[in-house]
Amino acid sequence: MPNAIALLKADHATVKRLLRELEATTDRGVKVRERLVADIEREVKIHSQIEEELFYPTFKKAAEDTESEELFYEATEEHHVVDMVLPALKSTSPKAPEFAAKAKVLKDLIEHHAQEEETQMFVQARRLLDDEQLRVLGEELQARKKTLQAMWSNPILKPVKKLQAAVHKITPAKIKNAKANAIAAMKSDEARQR
Ligand SMILES: [Fe+2]
Ligand SMILES: [Fe+2]
Repeated sequence: MPNAIALLKADHATVKRLLRELEATTDRGVKVRERLVADIEREVKIHSQIEEELFYPTFKKAAEDTESEELFYEATEEHHVVDMVLPALKSTSPKAPEFAAKAKVLKDLIEHHAQEEETQMFVQARRLLDDEQLRVLGEELQARKKTLQAMWSNPILKPVKKLQAAVHKITPAKIKNAKANAIAAMKSDEARQR
């Protein structure tokens, strides 16, 4: 069972590989582009969601009132930008002349965000959380990821997923921050009761 940071880094590697594959396509590879965009959407959305629901709140709580807390706000804002750029790429025809430019913007954005997480936020998380906390968090991330993956491929849950994605997209960063705080408070209550 990987710890939280190893799991998130492995996700980054997967998404970055898919984005590089997408960059190497041309407007003759319509089917390939469609498949890659769908794969990237699934990987990015599930990854962002587990970070926002579990990793970020735990990090924010641990980093409270330190300089590292700023990293939480930065990361949340960057997720928000990805939430806008991804649908723009999705709604662009793979044959359109602007498709490659939109794919490149998404790739640069995600590479930058993943790099910042790995070189700053995760480094601080390692300092702020001990091995046991990172292991427990890794298990929670893994379990949530499995559920979300199952939901993603379940046709019966498609409408539910669509609705959740729409709500997620229009949720301003402020509400996401409040949600992160509420989850962090709940988690520390749970930990105390354990
Ligand atoms: Fe992230
Ligand atoms: Fe990430």
